Amino acid sequence: MQEASDSDPTPAVTRLREQPDWGYLFREFYEMYRHSSAGGSTKIRSHQRTVRETLSKVLDSDPPLQFEKPDHKPVCAHLKRALDEGRLERTATVIRAIESVQHQLSWRFGYEKLPRGLSQKYAYAELMGPTGPAVSDGLILGLVLFAPKCTYPAHSHDGITESYFCLSGSVSENDDGVFAPGSLIFNPPGRNHRITTGEHEPSLLAYAWTGSKERLAEPGMKFSRLKKPKT
Ligand SMILES: [Fe+2]
Repeated sequence: MQEASDSDPTPAVTRLREQPDWGYLFREFYEMYRHSSAGGSTKIRSHQRTVRETLSKVLDSDPPLQFEKPDHKPVCAHLKRALDEGRLERTATVIRAIESVQHQLSWRFGYEKLPRGLSQKYAYAELMGPTGPAVSDGLILGLVLFAPKCTYPAHSHDGITESYFCLSGSVSENDDGVFAPGSLIFNPPGRNHRITTGEHEPSLLAYAWTGSKERLAEPGMKFSRLKKPKT
């Protein structure tokens, strides 16, 4: 079997049942989407149900787990603090499950063009999706990490319904309130959203994307508006 790297003993391709820590992590996601309140919103309740039902089917199928070489980005210097803080919150069981797989995560930028400074303050790691690690064509799950004082510029997702769960720190979206650990932010397809983070602590969010297989296969990540680079 092919190895992910010389130093990492994780096989490049395996099955979910052979990596129980990943199964426990997805179980935590399932419980998060089962027990969290929809706040009386029919649309949010429907999205939570879609995430749970799709996730349940994926887990029952014992999907392939395919790992890229673990990769870090500069913002990962804040990951320990984000996990430490999250362990004190109601999201603690999710945080512990993340800690069990963090050595296998591949942190990325995703965008072709990043605004100045964002490369130091942002990265995401996919957990499930068409390109893995857990292979699924109907659901994308992942983590996004922000440094303190970060502005994640406005963007939207055509044909994709998105939710962010705050796991650690606090964020605001479009200046609409402050979301602390345990809060869910809901973005229907096409909604423009911009995220800002607190001044002193990093923020760790879990996200889920649902949509058609075609949209999830090519989500086309781009910011709505980028400042022209100074020449
Ligand atoms: Fe988003």
